[in-house]
Amino acid sequence: MNLRGIDFGHVLDASGARGWFGEGHPFHRWVPIGLSFSGSTFVAKTTTLKARDPNRALGSDNQTPRVLRQHCVHVDWRKGVVLNALGLPGPGLEALLATGHWQRWTEPFFLSFATIEETAEDRLDEVRRFVRILKAALPDFAAPVGLQVNFSCPNVPHDEPLPDSVAGFRADLDEYAALDVPLMVKLSATQPVADARAITAHPSCDALCVSNTIPWRQMPDLIDWQGLFGARSPLERFGGGGLSGAPLLQIVADWVREARRQGISVPINAGGGILGPADAEVLHRAGASSVFVGSIAILRGWRLARTIRYANRLFSKKTAVATAPAARASAAMPVAPTARAASSVEPSTSPVLSDASPGESPRLL
Ligand SMILES: Cc1cc2nc3c(=O)[nH]c(=O)nc-3n(C[C@H](O)[C@H](O)[C@H](O)COP(=O)(O)O)c2cc1C
Repeated sequence: MNLRGIDFGHVLDASGARGWFGEGHPFHRWVPIGLSFSGSTFVAKTTTLKARDPNRALGSDNQTPRVLRQHCVHVDWRKGVVLNALGLPGPGLEALLATGHWQRWTEPFFLSFATIEETAEDRLDEVRRFVRILKAALPDFAAPVGLQVNFSCPNVPHDEPLPDSVAGFRADLDEYAALDVPLMVKLSATQPVADARAITAHPSCDALCVSNTIPWRQMPDLIDWQGLFGARSPLERFGGGGLSGAPLLQIVADWVREARRQGISVPINAGGGILGPADAEVLHRAGASSVFVGSIAILRGWRLARTIRYANRLFSKKTAVATAPAARASAAMPVAPTARAASSVEPSTSPVLSDASPGESPRLL
């Protein structure tokens, strides 16, 4: 996925999957046969402007949220779901910048930001302060960076119905534009495609990312909440939480298909419920431009590496076809460093591709 001349690759992390600085979570070390995000573009966990920890999710360093053995995260491996109510905990933007880790990252990556103030006016002020601080820090960044603007965290209640939110999001984008970096708006599949269209009509919206978690009990006709969790959320005392994992896949695929049908033409980074290589294919077919991998790291970590490899092959084929004339036209232009570590010719370990003989192109290429 190329945004403003920067190659962000075909596979991105879900924000929150690899922590603040790509360090991963402590449990990653214990996944059988190893867990590797190699070939996926780093997307930092969403930070807020100020420090916060509404549900006491931060560990002893007061910076890193724990994911497993965490009272506001519920995991069901058998059903392939995660429910979380972390509530965007963290030390705040300035503390994270002060570590210098983002500045030293050497390949294109994304930061992620969300506002938390109650009113649209206060949120706009929050965005302005965020932009001022990040803009001052950007000259020290070694790698090109994009910003994922998180317009969809279910664990931060805001005061307005959706129509007003769209106007608010567009006003926010006016401010984010001053950063002069690629802007990717992150939505939830609960948000109407028509609203997404209005947001993508903003000249500074370079791409969409869909979906964030699905808030507790929403989309009851598509999600069997009762079958998954019973009558009450295991995270009831935190407001119910937001759902990740298997049930999201078809919902996201349908959302992306509808977005394309309604004429949304910006790149869409799609994810939600990718738990293996074949799931990436579902989103590819629906019209996604790239995919992201999230709770697969928690639920099916041993499949992560081959899912990333498979998706890289799948989307590089589509890109090669779709962008060939443009690539020829810009052949003399300088090339941004690639975010992709995975080679498109490395041998596959994916069962979906296992009918390819060594040295032969995999079936899907
Ligand atoms: C433990 C956890 C933490 C998350 N943190 C964030 C976050 O900080 N920012 C964000 O935009 N999404 C966050 N998400 C949502 C994921 O990025 C992703 O959109 C969602 O989980 C759906 O994808 P998946 O089913 O592949 O996990 C988080 C999800 C989980 C399970």
